[in-house]
Amino acid sequence: MRRISLLLVAVLMLIVTAVGSPAAVPTDSWQSTRVTDPNQHKPTGRGGYPYRAMSDYVLRELDLKPGDVVVDIGAGDGFWAELMAKFVGEQGIIHAAEVEKKKIDQMKKKFADVPQVRPYLCPTDGTGLAENCCELAFLSKTYHHLDADGRVDYLRHLHKVVKPTGRLCVIEKYSQLATVHKSHDTSLSQLMAVAEEAGWIAVRYELMTGTYHYIAIFVQRELFPPEPSAPKRRPANRQAGQKRN
Ligand SMILES: C[S@@+](CC[C@H](N)C(=O)[O-])C[C@H]1O[C@@H](n2cnc3c(N)ncnc32)[C@H](O)[C@@H]1O
Repeated sequence: MRRISLLLVAVLMLIVTAVGSPAAVPTDSWQSTRVTDPNQHKPTGRGGYPYRAMSDYVLRELDLKPGDVVVDIGAGDGFWAELMAKFVGEQGIIHAAEVEKKKIDQMKKKFADVPQVRPYLCPTDGTGLAENCCELAFLSKTYHHLDADGRVDYLRHLHKVVKPTGRLCVIEKYSQLATVHKSHDTSLSQLMAVAEEAGWIAVRYELMTGTYHYIAIFVQRELFPPEPSAPKRRPANRQAGQKRN
């Protein structure tokens, strides 16, 4: 009997260690980029939403706090809004922006008892939200739906909607890896160019291993003051204290 109890305790400890340790959560930013297995980048999920399996990792990267205001652009079925609502709490707001009325009606039902999630019909070329109202603008698999010629303007608009210390997060399928559902992807370098033109600076971008999707997080260009000017250098052939003739 005692042996069985000891065994049970050992098994429980193993489970607690596995679940509680950071290694139990997909942790791209904590892992080495060294390729130790030629198959390590093989896609691990099927279906249209493989990146959703990385939600723990995404939410840790977002580091949302109670009271935060988020606009989830292209909220769809409210998958991300539901998760983010737990972090921002009832003092926070998740504006669940959608262009499809049917999805809004479904989200209104789904979030009837979650007052911080506010599904609404947004225009296709903006959020319709006031300036400086959000800590985060979040676009998961929505950026590629935006009108290609209007993307710089769209991200400029988000620059205004997001507070000066706020962030922009984009999740997209990596174009160079996409072999199915072509056109539902975005080249990372094109996203970077557009975001930079609109006044955003990337502070993190990572491939979410096994998903062929990346996450890119930006902050506003204005947060970066000019670099301190370099100290003046003495000509190499003169020693310190030596006077010019
Ligand atoms: C592929 S789904 C992504 C759903 C969810 N965000 C996710 O990550 O799984 C893209 C969603 O964006 C919506 N959408 C397309 N264009 C949009 C726009 N200009 N503004 C807001 N939502 C848009 C679509 O109706 C659709 O629900």
